This record gives sequence, structure tokens and C-alpha cells, in this order.
Amino acid sequence: MTDKQATARNVSAGIEFHGRKMDFGFEFEDLPRYWYGNDAFKSTLMNALSCLFLEGERLFIDAVRDNEHLVKDERLQKQVKNFIKQEAIHGHEHHMLSEYLDTLGYPATKVEAQERAVRLFLKKHVPAKDRLAITCAVEHFTAMLAHQMLTNNELTDEMDPRIREMWKWHAIEETEHKGVCFDVYEAAGGGYWKRVFHMATITMTFVMRLSTVQAYFLWKDKQLFKWSTWKSAFRFYWKTPALIPTIWKEYKDYYRRDFHPWEHDNRELLEGWEAEHDNYKAV
Ligand SMILES: [Fe+2]
Ligand SMILES: [Fe+2]
Repeated sequence: MTDKQATARNVSAGIEFHGRKMDFGFEFEDLPRYWYGNDAFKSTLMNALSCLFLEGERLFIDAVRDNEHLVKDERLQKQVKNFIKQEAIHGHEHHMLSEYLDTLGYPATKVEAQERAVRLFLKKHVPAKDRLAITCAVEHFTAMLAHQMLTNNELTDEMDPRIREMWKWHAIEETEHKGVCFDVYEAAGGGYWKRVFHMATITMTFVMRLSTVQAYFLWKDKQLFKWSTWKSAFRFYWKTPALIPTIWKEYKDYYRRDFHPWEHDNRELLEGWEAEHDNYKAV
């Protein structure tokens, strides 16, 4: 093991975190339909992403639970317990947003039901270690997005402050537990090729699924075939906040044999959040 790998694993083992039951006090009634910069593309993108979280996070929990018995390290066992708490609460909060999206005419809870069918299918037909490799891949995506949420003002400035608070809380917890699935995967004897194979397939399926759900939301709003929507999409991905170029290097790093999520040490982002927030109960 190289020094870099050893350092990343030490950081990962030393991270302490817990679940937080949030009380955002959402008053959705007065939330603008296009709550993200008054922009149809950006708002529907984040709405579509939010709809995929409830079942996505349950898939992660199932995968980790089904491999948990292979974890011998006590610190990692404790992290697994808190990981499960955090992901369960994330799913609950995103589901609340989905129920609100239903009232706006988006079939958000229907999307959740479709995702549930996919999750149950995967649970039945895909081996536990493969599901864990899928989870590691998606957790890398959430960790990259979380880092952008916490550092890139161009990404968050135009969001409605209430929804931004939810995404930032989720981003903090995704950062706190970004090494857990990876460490469980290694403890379970998961190998390199399985890990990168699932990253390649998840990249395609996740992007396709997200785009399909978003396209449906835009179509419902009669915004799908508008030039302004496509212009906004191009700007968002390539210019401001330029999501694709900003995460590209971190994405590619996942394909290295010696990759570990905590080689990108951003613990400093975790400091201060607790002191600034009292709208939660530690669990
Ligand atoms: Fe999450
Ligand atoms: Fe996560």
C-alpha cells in the first residue's frame, strides 16, 4: 500500500459522524415552481434527481446490510450503523419534496414507485457484492456533487434558500460518510474490475434515467422543446457552474487501482456546519 492510500484509509477510519433528524419547516406552498434561478432546466433537473433518492438510498442500505457481516473492524461497524441512519433520513426528506412535486403535476411519487420496482429486482437477481459495487459508484457521484454543493457558489446561489438548506445538509452527510461503502466493499473482498465495471455501467444508466425523468417533467411543463431550456442545459453543464469539467478529474480518479474516496480530503468543509445549525436532533 502506498503512503497516499494509507493516509486516505486513516482519514476514512477516523471520521466520526451521526444521523440528524432534520426539521426544515418546509412551507412548500409559496415555493416558486422554478425555485432554482427561475430556470425550468435547472429546477426540473434537481427535482428529477431528488425523486431518485428515496429508493436509491434504500438500495445503498440493502447493499451495505447484506455485506455488513464481513466487516470485522469495530470503527467501520459503527460507521455502517450511522451511514444507514443518515441514508434513511435523506430518503424521507426527499420523499417529502416528491409529495409536494406531485401537487405541481409532476409524477414524482410514481417515479419513486418505478425505482422501488427496480431496487427490488436488483435485490433479488444481483449478488450482494455487485450491489455494493453499484453503491460505491453512486456514492462517488454523490460525493462529487456534495463537494460542488458545499464549495461552488455558482451552483447554489440561485437556489431557493429553503431547498438549498436541504441540499447542503445532504451534501454535508454525503461527505461525512463518503468512504463507508468503499471500506465495506474492500472488507468484503470486492475487487478492482467489479468496482470499475459497475462505475461504467452506472454512469450510463444513471445519466439516462435522470435525463428521462427530467425530460418528462419538462415535457409536462411544455418546456422540453424550447430553445431557452437547451441553452440553459448547455450553460449549466459546460459554462456556469460547468458541472462536467469541474467533476471530470475526480470522476476519472475512480478508475485508478489505488483510488480511495478520502484521497480527496475535504474534511475542512465539515467544520462549522453543526455550530451554525440547531434545526436537527442527533440520532
Ligand atoms: Fe444520501
Ligand atoms: Fe450516501
